[in-house]
Amino acid sequence: MKIGILISGRGSNMVAIVDAVQSGEIPNSEIAVVISDQAGAAGLTKARDRGVEAIVIERKGRTRLEHDTEIADELSKRGVELICLAGYMRLLSSSFVQAFPKGIINIHPSLLPSFPGLDAQKQAYDAGVSVTGCTVHYVDEHLDNGPSILQKEVPVLDRDTIDTLSARILGVEHGLYVEALKIVTANN
Ligand code: GRF
Repeated sequence: MKIGILISGRGSNMVAIVDAVQSGEIPNSEIAVVISDQAGAAGLTKARDRGVEAIVIERKGRTRLEHDTEIADELSKRGVELICLAGYMRLLSSSFVQAFPKGIINIHPSLLPSFPGLDAQKQAYDAGVSVTGCTVHYVDEHLDNGPSILQKEVPVLDRDTIDTLSARILGVEHGLYVEALKIVTANN
């Protein structure tokens, strides 16, 4: 299965996916391309260091639809069947989502439907919950909303700051994304 990964920044989830595909932990899969909407995304170098093609398609000077169409064209050109959002910070247009039905997945750092949107770790911390977590889900046209594939709980400890909590969630995200991809690729 050919996988395309969209990023905007650090790319640690992207690295977890690439490493799991390249080591054979996610079988019968290949990373076709990594696409960033940010030229300065640290993840670009991490992808290239692993021998993965990584390209930049910036939003600047384009409408959302034009930008998404260009991304969809680059993915289609490479035969991508599954798109993983990994810290991709733009909302996708309906036409992009409809072009890849059940073909786009995302990771979010909370137990959805709790705390959708930005700064989910801070939202959970500020709400004073004792358990939060992360969710891998199919992407639909609404923000952080599609059907869940896997979720994992992460405890909030008394001594936590937002940074220590976020780091603990991120560590769990990497394993969860790989587990979710094993399920999704095995069912295709
Ligand atoms: C992760 O916390 C992910 O859940 C959220 O954005 C962050 C991306 O981190 N959607 P990274 O770029 O994968 O390191």
